Formats: sequence, C-alpha cells, structure tokens
Amino acid sequence: MAYETIIVEIEDQIALIRLNRPEALNALNSKLVDELSRALTEADQNDKVRCIVLTGNEKAFAAGADIKEMSEKSFVDVYGEDLFGAKIEAIQRVRKPMIAAVSGYALGGGCELAMMCDFIICGENAKFGQPEINLGVVAGIGGTQRLTRFVGKSKAMDMNLTGRFMDAAEAERSGLVSRVVPTPKVIPEAMSAARKIAEKSAVTAKAVKESVNRSYEVSLREGLLFERRSFHSMFATEDQKEGMAAFIEKREPQFRDK
Ligand code: CAA
Repeated sequence: MAYETIIVEIEDQIALIRLNRPEALNALNSKLVDELSRALTEADQNDKVRCIVLTGNEKAFAAGADIKEMSEKSFVDVYGEDLFGAKIEAIQRVRKPMIAAVSGYALGGGCELAMMCDFIICGENAKFGQPEINLGVVAGIGGTQRLTRFVGKSKAMDMNLTGRFMDAAEAERSGLVSRVVPTPKVIPEAMSAARKIAEKSAVTAKAVKESVNRSYEVSLREGLLFERRSFHSMFATEDQKEGMAAFIEKREPQFRDK
C-alpha cells in the first residue's frame, strides 16, 4: 500500500512506520491520521508483523495537530466530523506492542500520539509538550488525561497550563519515557527493543499489553483480578509449557504463538 504522509517498512517481523511530512514537522493533518490508522490496523492484522515502531524524523516526531488545517473550523465542523475521534480510536485498538521512537518535537497531538504507544524511547534532543493553550484550545487526544497518568497532576497541569516543553532528561525522570539514548540511536534502540519483543510469544505479549492497559481503566482490585485470570489463562497455551520447559532444560524457548 502506497501512502503519501507516512512510510511503512516491514523488516524482521517489525513494522517501522515513519511519519513523513517534514515540511510541516509531521503535523497530523487528516490525511496523515487516516493513513496512519489504516497502516496500523493493517500491521495489526499482518501475520508477518510482531511489533510496531512508530517514528518521525530527527527534528520532529510530530509537532501536533495541523494548525493550518484546523484554524478556520467551527464547533459544528469538528463536532460533526468528530475530529480525532474514530481514526484515533483505531490507533488505540492496536493489540500488537507498539513503541514510539521520538526525536525532536513531540508536541500537542505528537506527544499524545507517542503516549498512545505502549512505551516511548527518545533521543537526547526530544522535547515534549502540550502547548495547545497557546492556541486557545485544550489538548484533544489525551494531553490532559494520559499525560496526567504518566507524570502526575502537578507536571501535567504545569505542561498544559504554561505550554512549556519538557526535555528528554525530565521526561525520563518523570516516567514519560522508558529510555533516553543519543539521538542517532533512537531508531536502532527501538528496533532492538522491538526485536526482543518479537522473540516472545505473541499471545503472551498481547496479554501483557491488555493487562497493563487495564490498570488505567479499573480499580486495583479489579485490575489484579483481571491480571490473575490472564495469568491463569496462559496455562492453556503451548507457549507456557514451552517457556517453562526451556527454563528447566536450560535452553532458549521456541515460542509458536499457540
Ligand atoms: N501545524 C501545522 N504546521 C506546523 C505545525 C503544526 N502543528 N508545527 C509546525 N508547522 C509548520 C510551520 O508552520 C512551518 O511551516 P512554514 O515553513 O510553511 O511556515 C514548518 O512547520 C516549520 O515550523 P517552524 O518554522 O515553526 O519551525 P521552528 O523550528 O521555528 O519551531 C516549533 C518549531 C516550536 C515546533 C513550532 O513549529 C511550533 O510551535 N509548532 C506548533 C506546536 C503546537 O502548537 N502544537 C499543538 C498543535 S494543536 C494540537 O495538537 C491539538 C490536539 O491536542 C489534538
């Protein structure tokens, strides 16, 4: 499938998806959101893909929703088309592990897109922010919700109210990103993490993702019950037998996603 605003490469069972509107710092216009949601849905269904890496370029992961495209819209326009509704929900429905490899700006919708991935690896030049307030709007794809869960109320309020940017060191300190690496190493590091994940049982990886995500939706008691039942259900898989047998026999497991 040929896309205009993204580049999709599948290599070693990893789908590497690059946002590709460098002239606009990868701002998320409707075409890009549409193509990205289609590419992610396809990657999720493609048996040759076990993990997804989402990236931009060295200057920008994405500088947010496309301001030029939105600026003249009315409430009725954005409400009517449900701007950032269904297409973004399709991205959230991806069940395969998804890593954001962030260099440069991840602002507004860009920061929100990175937070929709399962974890974020960033370069030393990364800058995260929710500067929507400078445009007279509130964040619209999770900047007040996911960011608060990532970094806590105080920093989320600070970022959303002042519109200031967070650098890579602060993002790591605050738990927004899992790793910071020298900027040229961002994609290699994310690909190497993706390859590690691709070696695991795909069934178990999906269950891990489902269980961690559940912790954002339900009480601790409900979440623990969900996790325990998920753990129990793994004993119905061949991969559990293989994983535990391999440990006991001191060899590498050969998972078959069964
Ligand atoms: N939308 C549309 N175009 C954008 C853009 C955006 N979000 N961000 C950058 N661009 C364009 C610029 O207009 C510029 O295009 P021209 O050359 O045609 O003028 C080009 O990308 C390069 O940008 P700059 O010249 O501004 O580059 P810079 O290095 O001087 O500044 C920046 C970089 C600080 C990231 C600055 O571009 C900026 O502040 N961008 C906007 C960030 C922002 O406000 N994001 C939030 C958007 S709203 C949102 O995302 C809502 C939501 O939650 C869903």
